[in-house]
Amino acid sequence: MSDTYKIGLGNNDTDIRKKADSDFVSFWNDQAKNLTWFSPWKKTLDWQPPFARWFVGGTINASYNALDVHQETKSQKPAILWEGEDGDSRILTYGQILTEVQKFSNVLKSLGVEKGDRVTLYLPMIPELPIAMLACARIGATHTVIFSGFSATSIRDRVDDSKSKLIVTADGGYRRGKIVKLKEVVDEAIKGFDFVKNVVIVERTNNEITMTSKDRLWNDLMNNASDSCPAEKLDSAHPLYILYTSGTTGKPKGVLHGTGGYLTHLYSTFKWAFDIKDSDVFFCTADIGWVTGHSYVVYAPLLHGATQIMYEGAPDFPDASRMWDILQKYKATIFYTTPTALRMFMKFGDDIPNSFDLSTLRLLGSVGEPINPEVWRWYYKTIGKEKCPIIDTWWQTETGGMLISPLPGLETIPLKPGSGTRPIPGVNITVVDENGKDVEPNTKGYLVVKNPWPGMLLTLWGDDEKYKTVYWSKYENCYYPGDYALKDSDGYLWLLGRADDVLKVAGHRIGTAELESCIVSHDDVAESAVCGIPDEVKGEVIIAFVVLKESVTTENKILEKELVEKIRTDIGAIATPKQIYFVSKLPKTRSGKIMRRLLKAIGNNEKIGDVSTLEDGAAVTEVQAAFDEIQKSIKESN
Ligand code: PRX
Repeated sequence: MSDTYKIGLGNNDTDIRKKADSDFVSFWNDQAKNLTWFSPWKKTLDWQPPFARWFVGGTINASYNALDVHQETKSQKPAILWEGEDGDSRILTYGQILTEVQKFSNVLKSLGVEKGDRVTLYLPMIPELPIAMLACARIGATHTVIFSGFSATSIRDRVDDSKSKLIVTADGGYRRGKIVKLKEVVDEAIKGFDFVKNVVIVERTNNEITMTSKDRLWNDLMNNASDSCPAEKLDSAHPLYILYTSGTTGKPKGVLHGTGGYLTHLYSTFKWAFDIKDSDVFFCTADIGWVTGHSYVVYAPLLHGATQIMYEGAPDFPDASRMWDILQKYKATIFYTTPTALRMFMKFGDDIPNSFDLSTLRLLGSVGEPINPEVWRWYYKTIGKEKCPIIDTWWQTETGGMLISPLPGLETIPLKPGSGTRPIPGVNITVVDENGKDVEPNTKGYLVVKNPWPGMLLTLWGDDEKYKTVYWSKYENCYYPGDYALKDSDGYLWLLGRADDVLKVAGHRIGTAELESCIVSHDDVAESAVCGIPDEVKGEVIIAFVVLKESVTTENKILEKELVEKIRTDIGAIATPKQIYFVSKLPKTRSGKIMRRLLKAIGNNEKIGDVSTLEDGAAVTEVQAAFDEIQKSIKESN
């Protein structure tokens, strides 16, 4: 934890931190002035804990700030340099995107979508996805994007919860050379949903589709649409989007983000963390189906009138050189990716990236999970050639944008491999113990945020009570993100993984409760417990323990296949366990609760600790034996 890298861009605006520390409300008030508002706000922050409303009384539009404001100077500037997995490419300028967005806004209106309605987007990484999002934002409809790897059942739950009137999908998308038939999945997902009035289909793959009475083709609608649609003047707190994310209990929750505060947060953090300049070519590898794609593919780069690369497919398709090839081809200057992707690239060896010209790069970002120091150093040396700062950004779907990150656009401070350094200005973050008391330096505790920030979620869609209990009940008037952290003696923060029952597999958030209830809904299963174990590339992978009903005679191999199939159908392939293990009982407390802590400890090869509350010690022996066997078989298969 000790080596530091004294690198930076030489920028040093010490005033900003001083201002932010002395009065965070007036600090954010100044930041909001970077955006274009239709009418000014009357109050900067209305804080009725735990509900924050920023820039009250102001009216604004996200699509207007992303597109219209650039037309005078940048209508010919490329906004998106798109590359399909199959080698297809498209360049969309700020002028062209505005035209497309206005047309699609009119399409939405013609199909009966009004301000306040929800629209579900289930699309591959193609330009029509940001276009549809910005069109929703333009007319005040709330978009809810679903990652294109999710299953029909997952879509059904989300569409039902948001009561979306309209769905935009595609005939298919390319992934590892194969066509993923998205429209078929949507057909299955919305069976019997009368409230879904229309489905708009983008033709991406020319894969044959069966049209239903609700279906309309994107091109047919766009050909007849007018290209003029003024942006709605929306309240600052107007719901821009719902994004579903996994938590510790039940089904995924709808995180609801507003407009004025969220955009202010993105504008500022993008400038501070990535020091964005007009000449930059930014490349974020996140899928727009996740929050990183919402915030730092769609909104933040466009707010700044930046040029960015958008790539459709798998990062290692057709081979391990794809990312470096894209960076070289488009002369990227800023690259933002995940530790999982970096660990995979690192495994492929240095010769591949070394054979590309990556000299245009000047900043390298990381997001989504803790970055191991050795991976950080590899990124710094092999990709950045020891001249690009590593911007390790910590944040969440709920926070809207970065909360902890090195900020080379603002200040020059030494970096430490594996630390996100310090909070952004205007947020007060600390590490506390179980009782909410600040822990001593270098002591592991829980990360908390002590004041509201502009990108903060408005609430959970339709569930204010859950919003209060999930994030604001552990510590009084503090936001609890569910992460372990420590602060070192220089005040640097080190993020140490989730403190709750949320898993991070390849950076994707998966709730253990959701997965367990899916497994238990199989007819032959009595009980189940899942947990994560460390994995060299994915950070962690899922292991599932399953107790079968007594009467079951089906072979384990067959059941295993059925369970995997069920998980893929109910949730999606990303939730598939690496191993499913059948045991006769699970370690439980005397009051009948599964001792997850214990499973996790065994999986991590840690000391088991106090098991005095355990009901039956034999279960531990069985689970331990299961793990040993799993680890043996993983070793053999590597
Ligand atoms: O555990 C933290 C981890 O990802 C969680 C948030 O996941 P999600 O909502 O899917 O958003 C991911 C993209 C912003 C956090 O609670 N996490 C995110 N970034 C980092 C991280 N852990 C360590 N270091 C990071 N830089």
